[in-house]
Amino acid sequence: MSPEAPILEVEGLKKHFGGLKALDGVSFSIHPGEILGLAGPNGSGKTTCINAISGVFRVDGGQIRYLGQPIQHLPAYRRVRHGINRTFQVPRPFLGLTVLENVMVAATYRGGRNVNPRHILEDIGLAEHADRPARSLNSSQQKMLGLARALATHPRLLLVDEIGAGLNPVELSSMAERLRSYAEQGMALLVVEHLMDFLDRVTDRLLVMDAGNTLFSGKLQQATEDSRVIEAFLGG
Ligand SMILES: Nc1ncnc2c1ncn2[C@@H]1O[C@H](COP(=O)(O)OP(=O)(O)OP(=O)(O)O)[C@@H](O)[C@H]1O
Ligand SMILES: [Mg+2]
Repeated sequence: MSPEAPILEVEGLKKHFGGLKALDGVSFSIHPGEILGLAGPNGSGKTTCINAISGVFRVDGGQIRYLGQPIQHLPAYRRVRHGINRTFQVPRPFLGLTVLENVMVAATYRGGRNVNPRHILEDIGLAEHADRPARSLNSSQQKMLGLARALATHPRLLLVDEIGAGLNPVELSSMAERLRSYAEQGMALLVVEHLMDFLDRVTDRLLVMDAGNTLFSGKLQQATEDSRVIEAFLGG
């Protein structure tokens, strides 16, 4: 495929939970080296979107193409092997394993690439905690561990679910810089976030969802002036 081709194309994505349309025809694409911000009120379908792309469940309609190929039939672990991984809104480490062991387990899911779990922990700032049980980490450290585990699988497409929530201003700045540096190295990122200031530091490309639909797609600056977006966030 050409260097200009998107790494991810999502078209008319649908996911129902009983009568609830969590995704009702969402479409977007991301190129290598690009960051797409995804915002929207609580319950608008942001995490469902990440779950659909990462393969937590099968979708009920639409297409997910990765590197030009449909992937919606693939189980999650195979998507990880192809280079798709994600972080969780609520971190889910193996609490009884050490920090290092958590990264080592994640690394086993990515076949054929050399991964040094200690280097990843050094890079992410958790090296001094490597031998502590994951349950002893505070919540921002658990978020960093979640990111370290995703990085251990060498993602080409990284789906980040509200990693900014609960971080202090200094941590937020360094996280924004970190995500941008991943994109500069060619990674594609979908960054779900409520914090507009944080998104503004990460990207100017934004999708806003409401009730499973795309409410807005374009420049972040324009979104903050869009009456539909303001109404969805502030209830008018
Ligand atoms: N596994 C599930 N079973 C049933 N309903 C679900 C499931 N996952 C999500 N939902 C529902 O789908 C809708 C979208 O949820 P989702 O978690 O994607 O929202 P969100 O935009 O990530 O919200 P938040 O900002 O609060 O994280 C919500 O109404 C939610 O209750
Ligand atoms: Mg969510």
